[in-house]
Amino acid sequence: MISYKDLLKDRRIFYYIERADYFLKNMGYTYHGTKHVVWVAGHARMILEKLHYPKRDVELAGIAGLLHDIGNIVCRHDHAQAGALLAYQLLKEKNVLTEEDLTDLMYAIGNHESDTGVPVTPIAAAVVIADKSHVSRNRVRKDGNIKDDIHDRVNYSIYYSNIEVDSENKLIKLVLKIDTSISDILEFFSIFKERMEMCRRASKVLGCKFRIRINGKDL
Ligand SMILES: [Fe+2]
Ligand SMILES: [Fe+2]
Repeated sequence: MISYKDLLKDRRIFYYIERADYFLKNMGYTYHGTKHVVWVAGHARMILEKLHYPKRDVELAGIAGLLHDIGNIVCRHDHAQAGALLAYQLLKEKNVLTEEDLTDLMYAIGNHESDTGVPVTPIAAAVVIADKSHVSRNRVRKDGNIKDDIHDRVNYSIYYSNIEVDSENKLIKLVLKIDTSISDILEFFSIFKERMEMCRRASKVLGCKFRIRINGKDL
């Protein structure tokens, strides 16, 4: 089996990741490049590791996290589904993953978006929680006027985001710090409500409750 670390050495994969982000940059979207997908991969791995899932699942969560957004080289719309097929092709030719591994990866990548995805396997659930929790000012591309666009404003206001897993109490917690002089909790939920609900459903698949802590307060 190929590991997540092996894939980090694959230049072709990073070429596709950066090309996908190049397209989104041209669309005026937030950053989706290498730093985003590596964050998602690392946190998806961490979630399954802390919940004592088998090593194989941890590796596949990392691989799915790394590849989850490459479908944007085809089109933003339905990029999850396009990405699942692209990932299949890129990994199949390496001849190191079983059919079961490949299908687990396709479930996870193909179901990571809130409008069409239903993450019902542990690997898919971990990728969704990591991806939807990656809200951060580092993903805003504009240096200048961020006040006019609610997405820019909310993302820019978040100067700390992390995921904490309490395996004993079966809790997955998104921890955020928001600069309330830029945006606030109300604006956060007005654009991220659907994503947070998807995290809640995904956490359930892992037998956990999903909680959010903003500026030190549990919601
Ligand atoms: Fe995505
Ligand atoms: Fe993503």
